[in-house]
Amino acid sequence: MNLRRIFFVLIGTSIIVFGGLYIYLFLTSSLKFKFIQGTTGIQIRKSSPYANMNTLLDRKMPSTVSLISCRKLFDGDPVEMNTTYKLMENLAHNDIKDMKYINLTQSCSSFRTMRRYITNPLDDVEESFPLAFSIVMYKDVYQAERLLRAIYRPQNIYCIHVDQNAVRGVKEAMKCIASCFENVFITSKLHSVRWGTISVLDAELSCMTELLQMHKSWKYFINLTGQEFPLRTNYELVKILSVYDGANDIFGSTDRKWHTRWKDAGKPPYNIRPLKGSVHIVANRDFVDFLINNRIAQEFYNWTKKTKVPDETFFPSLNHNPQFGVKGQYNGSRPPQEIRYFSRFKMWTHRTGTGCHGKIVRGICILGIGDLPFLRTSYNFFVNKFHWKYQSFALDCMEELYFNTTINEYEGIENFTTSVYENADIVKYAVK
Ligand SMILES: *[C@@H]1O[C@H](CO)[C@@H](O)[C@H](O)[C@H]1NC(C)=O
Ligand SMILES: *[C@@H]1O[C@H](CO)[C@@H](O)[C@H](O)[C@H]1NC(C)=O
Ligand SMILES: *[C@@H]1O[C@H](CO)[C@@H](O)[C@H](O)[C@H]1NC(C)=O
Ligand SMILES: *[C@@H]1O[C@H](CO)[C@@H](O)[C@H](O)[C@H]1NC(C)=O
Ligand SMILES: *[C@@H]1O[C@H](CO)[C@@H](O)[C@H](O)[C@H]1NC(C)=O
Ligand SMILES: *[C@@H]1O[C@H](CO)[C@@H](O)[C@H](O)[C@H]1NC(C)=O
Ligand SMILES: *[C@@H]1O[C@H](CO)[C@@H](O)[C@H](O)[C@H]1NC(C)=O
Repeated sequence: MNLRRIFFVLIGTSIIVFGGLYIYLFLTSSLKFKFIQGTTGIQIRKSSPYANMNTLLDRKMPSTVSLISCRKLFDGDPVEMNTTYKLMENLAHNDIKDMKYINLTQSCSSFRTMRRYITNPLDDVEESFPLAFSIVMYKDVYQAERLLRAIYRPQNIYCIHVDQNAVRGVKEAMKCIASCFENVFITSKLHSVRWGTISVLDAELSCMTELLQMHKSWKYFINLTGQEFPLRTNYELVKILSVYDGANDIFGSTDRKWHTRWKDAGKPPYNIRPLKGSVHIVANRDFVDFLINNRIAQEFYNWTKKTKVPDETFFPSLNHNPQFGVKGQYNGSRPPQEIRYFSRFKMWTHRTGTGCHGKIVRGICILGIGDLPFLRTSYNFFVNKFHWKYQSFALDCMEELYFNTTINEYEGIENFTTSVYENADIVKYAVK
């Protein structure tokens, strides 16, 4: 008798508890979308009735900065800055070692879950606008993997070029990480990359060739190094690049001071006017196809081999010689060194004076926490560069901001407008 009563009381209580929980979940699901943490990482599905409470509550996915307030650092709060500088003096750095990556990736699904990769396209617009990335690196797997984790979306494709001369642990670890994703691969040919030589260009061209072969529908190509980090979410990149409508974002300068780079190389083929550019490019697929498969580009490649720092000549020259009528080229209405480009924020300290709140290595600012307020207001796509161990909260906070924004845009809490990009000269004067 008593047992039966207990049984019914238990059943009744369960109904009340689970019913209540169900109603609670239902009521709190006014959010447009739900996060599900499945076996393959963080899956985000539209209007899914299943919510994973842990992931929902922990909005700072996948990175959490607990010791200090990133928000205050982005606001430039001087007290928080002081506290953070103090804290960083004796901070232990908890990275993931190369061997550990090799171990963790023995089980890909637990690796993706543990590192909290986003394994669903977040949005139809993003899904139908896949991007192709190259990451050129030679050390520091931990930082490169954090970059990959930020920009990783299942609809995109990622080519990683690990330097031929990188230590074995780096090559192995990157291979293992790549093997956990269908859309991440290591180039089949590894070059030994030395600045100023054709090897830089070759690494990039290897990636481009394979990216064209392996994925038929990506729309834009972006090249990165392992020490860069996104300033725009994938959603924002897609919105901007939709507005670009094929325009390339490839800096070029006709300044005569660069002529020493090619004055001994003879006359360029097809009367191409050479320009000097930077190391960062954002190019549409047709243009990349032209670079790889067109005879003009191939002959020009042969010519650039004879120049100094060929990689900084090859892409900009082909982008700024509109006579070939390739989609996205810049038509030259205004001098190319006078217009605005967005692909990268990079602080060359010899050019801009100080302004760098981090430290200066070979003329480039390694960004610190004092640079965060500025970075938040930047319109650029990516930032160059961080050394994750140097003022480690700088990169940590960039990650927190990046993932916060990703979720906020996804939930419709934050909006993104593309007006700055719509009116850019590279877009207005692009070859259609
Ligand atoms: C990110 O979101 C969390 C939770 O909403 C918040 O506490 C934190 O301050 C945000 N970080 C930044 C940099 O905005
Ligand atoms: C920050 O620290 C410096 C040096 O320790 C000190 O002079 C300054 O008053 C501090 N500023 C704030 C806002 O705490
Ligand atoms: C990975 O690490 C765990 C715990 O440290 C260890 O037990 C396991 O043997 C390692 N696995 C491999 C494949 O090295
Ligand atoms: C991007 O490509 C250009 C052109 O080859 C090259 O000079 C540069 O090193 C690449 N940038 C990165 C970040 O790999
Ligand atoms: C480029 O140079 C190589 C080696 O000299 C040659 O085999 C190739 O035909 C050249 N390519 C073009 C398109 O002229
Ligand atoms: C974002 O834009 C939509 C549509 O224009 C608007 O309804 C919404 O209020 C905006 N949200 C925010 C947070 O500004
Ligand atoms: C470049 O494009 C703009 C806008 O389409 C056009 O007005 C201009 O004439 C073009 N300039 C050249 C040099 O073709």
